[in-house]
Parts: sequence; structure tokens; C-alpha cells
Amino acid sequence: MAGFVTPATPGVSLDRPAWAASPQVLVQRFTLKQYFDVIVQPGLTFSYSPEEGYSGLLSGKTAVLILARGGTYVPSAETGRLDMQRPYLELILGFIGVADIRTVLVQPTQLGTEQTAQEAIRRAIAEARSIAEELRA
Ligand SMILES: Cc1cc2nc3c(=O)[nH]c(=O)nc-3n(C[C@H](O)[C@H](O)[C@H](O)COP(=O)(O)O)c2cc1C
Repeated sequence: MAGFVTPATPGVSLDRPAWAASPQVLVQRFTLKQYFDVIVQPGLTFSYSPEEGYSGLLSGKTAVLILARGGTYVPSAETGRLDMQRPYLELILGFIGVADIRTVLVQPTQLGTEQTAQEAIRRAIAEARSIAEELRA
């Protein structure tokens, strides 16, 4: 996890492996959950009023998610329903107003051959480079 996103920062990048179909579990999942518990606060990253409901305050920010998964989760297939990693991270960032979310999937890293894994890594690196160049421009 590269850094905290607050109204004062331009964006955030998160790199998380999938553990048990969600962002890495056990101790590190707890750390990630704590991160969101700290930043998802009314007045800091979102607002609420009975008239207007919830509004994310982090407009104009970009988030880059780099998510490694041993298997392959396809949104339109049964595996997509099991994916609690990508939807969770995109939902919580969207909730606080980050509209520009670039997600790089590194998958499958385990359920395939070594060659499949290497191709997935190469593809993800190329995608991440291209996003970095676009964001730098
Ligand atoms: C305890 C544990 C649970 C895992 N659970 C999943 C899972 O539910 N789905 C999945 O696709 N991969 C799962 N994986 C595989 C990792 O997501 C995969 O190896 C990933 O490439 C790890 O990224 P890293 O090398 O950056 O740690 C699990 C790995 C471990 C160690």
C-alpha cells in the first residue's frame, strides 16, 4: 500500500494479493481494513445529510489498484460472484468519491502453468507502465 489518500493527496495506489477471494486476509487484511476505517470518516472523505444522502469528498483523485490473484475471476462468470477483492476495493474508494479507479489484475498467478503466470505478470507490468505514463503526462 503506497500511501494514505486524503483530501490533500492526489491519489493512492494499492497493491494487494487475493487471499480467500478478498483483499489479503489475516494480519494484513486487518491492516488494510484499519486503513479504510481511519480514512472513511464523515467530514474527511465523505459527507452525509438527510437531504442529499452520502457524497464522497475525494473528487478529482485517481486510485491505481494492482491486484494479484492465484486464480482467475471473471466478472460475468460464476467466479466473479466469488470475487470480494476487486468489488470491495472499488466500492469503498467509489464511496469516498474516487471516480477514476484503474485496476490492474495479475491473474492467474497459481492456477495455470508457470508460463501462464509469467504472461499474467508481463501483461500486468505493461498495463501498469501504461497507466503510469498516462498519469504522468
Ligand atoms: C492464504 C492464501 C489464500 C489465498 N486465497 C486466494 C483466493 O481466495 N483466490 C485467489 O485467486 N488466490 C488466492 N491466493 C493466491 C494469491 O492471491 C496469489 O498467490 C497472489 O499471486 C499472491 O500475491 P503476492 O505474490 O503479491 O503475495 C491465496 C494465497 C494464500 C497464501
